[in-house]
Amino acid sequence: MPSSRQWLLNGHPRARQIAADDFRLTTVEVPGPADGQMLLRTRYLGFDPAQKGWMENIADYVAPMAIGDIMRGSAISEVVESRLPGFAPGDMVAGSTGWTEWHLSDGNGLTRCDTALAPTAMLSILGTTGVTAWCGLFKIGRPVPGDTVVVSGAAGATGSIVGQLAKIAGCRTLGIAGGADKCRWLVEESGYDAAIDYKAGHVRDQLRELCPGGIDVIFDNVGGTILNDMLAEIATGARVVICGGISRYETGTLPAGPQNYFNLVFRRGTMSGFIVLDWAAEFPAIRKRIERLVSEGRLAWREDVQHGFENAPATLGRLFSGKNRGKQLLEL
Ligand SMILES: NC(=O)c1ccc[n+]([C@@H]2O[C@H](COP(=O)([O-])OP(=O)(O)OC[C@H]3O[C@@H](n4cnc5c(N)ncnc54)[C@H](OP(=O)(O)O)[C@@H]3O)[C@@H](O)[C@H]2O)c1
Repeated sequence: MPSSRQWLLNGHPRARQIAADDFRLTTVEVPGPADGQMLLRTRYLGFDPAQKGWMENIADYVAPMAIGDIMRGSAISEVVESRLPGFAPGDMVAGSTGWTEWHLSDGNGLTRCDTALAPTAMLSILGTTGVTAWCGLFKIGRPVPGDTVVVSGAAGATGSIVGQLAKIAGCRTLGIAGGADKCRWLVEESGYDAAIDYKAGHVRDQLRELCPGGIDVIFDNVGGTILNDMLAEIATGARVVICGGISRYETGTLPAGPQNYFNLVFRRGTMSGFIVLDWAAEFPAIRKRIERLVSEGRLAWREDVQHGFENAPATLGRLFSGKNRGKQLLEL
């Protein structure tokens, strides 16, 4: 019977940054598995900016979180003991199993790490991150060769994959990210044709200069003034994909509507949000297509691995300060 540390929700960080006391560390005893169960040891946690919205209970596409709940989040776990047919010790599985070192499962909601890549790929390139990039770009952005695709949050886990997929689709790609270092990485290693450092200002001027024919596809992870600047430069028939809006996740108010939204009328554009889970039935097929691109050497990704279960809250904080370089993970 292992002892398991767990991080519990202890506060709803509405209209403010996440604070240390929004989490509480506790220890429980986890019993051995009953018939039809398996005992799992968490190996990696995956982090997503959406977790803050889940803590706040503002996201109505998931069940609300109550104070005292195990902090919700994705993870890779190893089967240690199994009384569930089809699973054996050593098997690796992925699922939204939360911030706990050990847990029992009947297998519901878990996906086998059935890949030639490292199991962590199931949290990054083959996980929600990879399929979000794929679904948002191809199902909503619908790029065609020759299009100019602009991505905000471009150096992040999702944004860096979107840029590469758009290149594979024959597009010209421009990424917006914070800082010269990230922008250099976007162009020199991640395959973007050009990058804009939003922290240096003048985003709209640079977009106008770098996209003389206008922007055909916007993939927006950030919202706020960056979305407004991108909307100012759309081409006729543009598709605007709203994936996320991290610029407002720590503020108390929703941003005013983008002043430039009326360009959607003048230039016959469309703007659409999405929740990737709506395409869950297609994830296995999309994973196969992504894995093929990886095996052909056409798609790369990076993972930012922090260490130590006690560091889970601080690791989540890295997403909001832009410290993460690629998919934010924590190894236990
Ligand atoms: N719709 C869906 O189904 C779905 C699914 C998954 C994820 N998402 C969304 O996709 C977006 C990207 O998620 P991810 O997991 O790939 O995270 P990520 O991009 O790897 O990490 C977050 C990045 O956001 C940037 N950022 C933080 N605060 C910012 C601010 N105030 N203004 C501008 N940029 C800021 C930082 O990069 P810089 O250093 O460049 O600022 C940071 O590295 C998030 O908005 C997430 O909620 C949506």
